[in-house]
Amino acid sequence: MVYRGGGKPIAIFRLPDGYFAIEDICSHEEASLSEGEIEDGNIECPLHGAIFDIKTGKNLTLPAVLPVKSHAVKIENGDIFLEL
Ligand code: FES
Repeated sequence: MVYRGGGKPIAIFRLPDGYFAIEDICSHEEASLSEGEIEDGNIECPLHGAIFDIKTGKNLTLPAVLPVKSHAVKIENGDIFLEL
């Protein structure tokens, strides 16, 4: 799921231990991380294959050399709230 509330789009992921949100645009070039493959809590960029930690936004492999911003997520009464 991607939140497009006016600023940079934010990808929201559901993992076994909760919801997590990171910037949707890869820090390497223009690619939507939400369109990548998830494996072991990480997301692989669909364009050049850089891997990011979904919980922290940390870049784990090249060609990305910078992290993407992560956002706190809170669930209340079934609604998802993002800290922007
Ligand atoms: S655009 Fe994501 S790794 Fe290049």
